[in-house]
Amino acid sequence: MSYPAVRMRRLRRTSALRRMMQKVNVLPTDLIYPVFVDEHARAPVPITFMPSYSRLPIRGVIEEVSHIIEQGVKAVILFGIPSKKDEKGSAAYTANGIVQKAVHRLKKEYGDELAVITDVCLCEYTSHGHCGVVNDGEIQNDPTLEILQKVAVSHAQAGADIVAPSGMMDGQVKFIREALDDGGFNQVGIMAYSAKYASSFYGPFREAAECAPKFDDRKSYQMGFGNLNEALREIELDVNEGADIIMIKPALAYLDIIHAASLKFNLPIAAYNVSGEYSMVKAAAQNGWIDEKTAILEILTGIKRAGADLIVTYFAKDVGTWLNKQ
Ligand code: PBG
Repeated sequence: MSYPAVRMRRLRRTSALRRMMQKVNVLPTDLIYPVFVDEHARAPVPITFMPSYSRLPIRGVIEEVSHIIEQGVKAVILFGIPSKKDEKGSAAYTANGIVQKAVHRLKKEYGDELAVITDVCLCEYTSHGHCGVVNDGEIQNDPTLEILQKVAVSHAQAGADIVAPSGMMDGQVKFIREALDDGGFNQVGIMAYSAKYASSFYGPFREAAECAPKFDDRKSYQMGFGNLNEALREIELDVNEGADIIMIKPALAYLDIIHAASLKFNLPIAAYNVSGEYSMVKAAAQNGWIDEKTAILEILTGIKRAGADLIVTYFAKDVGTWLNKQ
C-alpha cells in the first residue's frame, strides 16, 4: 500500500492558502438590494415574515440606501406600495406615484453613484392582486402590455437607469423596449425577469408588498417548476426582444436553470434570492440552528458559482461589510 502522492489537503492547510484558492468571490458590486417604498408609511414598517426588513417611506429609503452605498453595493430595485389600488393598477404609472417619486429623490441624492432599477409589474397596484388586467376572471396578456409600457416610461421619466418587468406577460420586453425608444429613453436598460417560476418562496414578499392574488394563483403566467427547456425558451425570447440583463427567479431551487442559462447566453445573468429564501435563513438563525453569516456567504457564493453575475438579495444590506473583509 503506498501513501497518496497527490494530496489535496496541502492547499487547504492554512487560512491564507484556502483564501488564495477560492475561485468564486462574491463582491458587493454583484448585489442588488430590493427596497419597498410605501406611500402610507411615515416611519419604517417592519415586515413580520422578513426579520430585520421593513417597508419604508421615501425618507427612509434615502437613509437605507446611504448604508448600502457605504458598503460598496451599487444598485437597488424598487417596489412600490401605493395608497390606492384599482382594477387596472393605474397608480403604477402616475407621474407622482410612489416609485416615481422615490426614483427622482434617489437620483437627485446619489446621481450616477447608484444604479436605480424599478420593478415593472401591476400586482402591487391592482385591487385583485394579479400582474395583469383581469377580464372574465382571466388575466389578459395584450391589454396589460400597453399598461406596462406606460409604467416603464413613467419610471424612465423619473430617472430610472434600468426597468425590470416581472409580470411574465408574453411580449413585455418587446413592448417596453419600443415604448422606451419612442419616448426618447434608448439608454434605459431592461432587466427582464425572464424565467420566473410560480414559487412558494414568494410568500413573505406578498405579505410585504400586499400583493397576494385575491383569486386563483399566478400559474397561468409564471412558470411551473418542473421544466428547464421552457425557461431557456423564455430567456431566448427576451434576448431577442431586446433584454439587456436576464433574470432567473427564485435562485436556490433553480441553480440548474442559472447554470444552463450561463452556458447558453452571453448577456449578464441576474438571480433573485427571493423573500422566502431570506426568511428561511433568518428563522433558522434566530433559533440558533445555523450560523447566519456563514450560511449567507455560502448561499450567495453558490448562486454566483452556478453562473449568476448579479444577485438580487435582501441580505445585501448586511453582507457588504463581510464581503469586503472575506
Ligand atoms: C411581482 C413580484 C413578486 C416578487 C417580485 N416581484 C411577487 C410575485 O410574483 O408574487 C417576489 C419577490 C420575493 O419573493 O422576494 N410580480
